[in-house]
Amino acid sequence: MDFREVMERRSSCRKFRPDPIDPETLRELVRLAGLAPSPANAQPWRFIAVSNKTLLETMAAEVRRRTEEVFPAPRTEPGRAAFERLLWFSTFFAEAPVVIFAALSPYRAVAAEALEGHAHPTHDEINAMRQQPDLQCLGAAIEHLLLAATGLGLAGCWLAAPLVARREMEQILGLTPPWRLASLVAVGRPALLLNTEKERKPLEQIFELIP
Ligand SMILES: Cc1cc2nc3c(=O)[nH]c(=O)nc-3n(C[C@H](O)[C@H](O)[C@H](O)COP(=O)(O)O)c2cc1C
Repeated sequence: MDFREVMERRSSCRKFRPDPIDPETLRELVRLAGLAPSPANAQPWRFIAVSNKTLLETMAAEVRRRTEEVFPAPRTEPGRAAFERLLWFSTFFAEAPVVIFAALSPYRAVAAEALEGHAHPTHDEINAMRQQPDLQCLGAAIEHLLLAATGLGLAGCWLAAPLVARREMEQILGLTPPWRLASLVAVGRPALLLNTEKERKPLEQIFELIP
C-alpha cells in the first residue's frame, strides 16, 4: 500500500476480530507514533497498551457509570436512542483486542527561559496562548499510530468520549501527575469491511488560498 492509499483507507473501526495483536506489532505502532513532530521535540507522550479483558471491562463499566452520572437522563425516545449511541461510542473499546491509552505530560515551553524570573506568562498561560501545542502534537502522534496500523492491515478508533471517567481510568492504569490520560485508541483486525467512502466536507468549504 502506498502512503496515499494508507491515508485513504484509514477508517474508524469499532468491531474487531478477537485475534490478539502481538507485542512486537504494538511496539512498532508506538515507535511510529513517536516519530510525530512535537514542540521543541518535547515528545510529551506515553502509550500504555492494555489487552487484559477484565481491566478493559472494569474501565468500560466506570465510563458507563460516569456517563449516566454526568449526562441528564433523556426524556424522549430519540433522546434515549442518542444516549444509547453515546454509551456505545464510549464503551465499545472493551471489545477490542487491545486499547492503547495515550497519556500526556504538559510540556514546558522553551520560551519560558526568556522570562528571567518573571512570574508571567506561566507555562500554562503560554500553552493556552499557543492553543495547547502539547495536545496538538499528541493528536499528530495518534494519527501516526492509526496510519501505521492501517499500513499493517490493522484498524483502530480514536476515542475521547470515555474520558468522562478519566480519573478512574488513570487510577486503574497507575498514571500519576504530571501524566494525564488524553486519548484512547482501540486497535485490532476489523471484523467488518471498513467504510472508506468518506463523508467529507467539499474542499471549497475547508480550503482557501490567499495568493
Ligand atoms: C479526537 C477524536 C475523538 C474521537 N472520539 C471518539 C469516541 O469517543 N468514540 C468513537 O466511537 N469515535 C470517536 N472518534 C472517531 C470519529 O467519530 C471518526 O473519526 C469520525 O466519525 C470520522 O470517521 P473516520 O475516522 O472513519 O474517517 C474520535 C475521533 C477523534 C479525532
